[in-house]
Amino acid sequence: MQVSILGGGGFLGRKLAARLAAEGTLGGKPVTALTLFDVAEPVAPASAPFPVTCLAGDVVDLPEAALPKGTDVVFHLAAVVSAAAEADYDLGRRVNLRGTDAVVDACRRLTGAGGAPPRVVFTSSVASFSATQADTLGDDARQVPGNSYGAQKAAAELILADASRRRFLDAVSIRLPTVVVRPGRPNKAASSFFSAIVREPLLGLETDLPVADDFAVWVCSPRRAVDWLLHAAAMDTRPMGLDRSITPPGISTTIAHLLQALEDVQPGASAKVRRVRDEAIEAIVGTWPPAFEPLRARTLGFAPHEPLVDVVRAFVEDDLAATRAERANG
Ligand SMILES: NC(=O)c1ccc[n+]([C@@H]2O[C@H](COP(=O)([O-])OP(=O)(O)OC[C@H]3O[C@@H](n4cnc5c(N)ncnc54)[C@H](O)[C@@H]3O)[C@@H](O)[C@H]2O)c1
Repeated sequence: MQVSILGGGGFLGRKLAARLAAEGTLGGKPVTALTLFDVAEPVAPASAPFPVTCLAGDVVDLPEAALPKGTDVVFHLAAVVSAAAEADYDLGRRVNLRGTDAVVDACRRLTGAGGAPPRVVFTSSVASFSATQADTLGDDARQVPGNSYGAQKAAAELILADASRRRFLDAVSIRLPTVVVRPGRPNKAASSFFSAIVREPLLGLETDLPVADDFAVWVCSPRRAVDWLLHAAAMDTRPMGLDRSITPPGISTTIAHLLQALEDVQPGASAKVRRVRDEAIEAIVGTWPPAFEPLRARTLGFAPHEPLVDVVRAFVEDDLAATRAERANG
């Protein structure tokens, strides 16, 4: 299997590359080559049992080398994330829409040269929906985005579904929940605080909580997000028909439950969380649905979620030491 990860230097891209390197296979078949592509040249995962090519560039001007001849699977993760896309309309539209167009064109080049349509796994978002805090959405809920990022993700899903119908590629778009706990530093995603309220206290640092304790949110762990991306890369897409988008089985939780899970792992840690309301952040995340009933994903074999306390434990096991070291180095 020849694999490319666009956005391969980002949070999920690095986790995905590390998992491929550790397992050496995808869908039971050996990975024969991996290409990582991002704005800055990504770092290859340690001890990969296959050749890794790392490339820097702009997804909108996608070089041929990013999707070389023979590519079987493309993970399209390159994106301008929520608050950044809201703050800079031109940048978000350019990367999130034109970048997806460029992926379609690159796949057309591959299939035009006689290759099979590559599987394209696209990371869409819960932010492509809007709802109130009381809602639970079903698989047939309409996408009515409450921000530009969500609109760009929904539009990209449609473009990829149509390109699948035309057999330029074979897409599975996963509408990821908010992924917690994100390692490293706070970032420009409006959802950054959902991770910060767990990560920063575990680092012994104070952090601000911009919403109320009973605020409800749809989340998943990085481990499970990677599981779903890998499943999407290898699954039989025929039962999906024309609808190439999936809401995976995340967990609906509240800030209070998330802080309780933190307390279960490290008693007293939640005292580091300061209540500082931020209406701009609240306006973005307040439109994201807090719960789904993802029956279609279960039918299609997407793994169910682990309990919330395991999400906090996984951060401690996988990322706390590296985050501490990275932050200590400035
Ligand atoms: N992390 C989450 O909570 C979450 C939730 C829903 C959806 N998603 C989606 O999952 C994907 C990965 O998210 P992440 O958390 O790893 O984000 P991230 O910001 O860490 O990674 C995205 C990567 O895309 C790269 N990128 C941006 N513009 C680019 C360009 N013009 N050309 C090439 N690369 C470019 C960035 O440099 C970055 O490394 C994104 O598509 C995101 O929208 C993430």
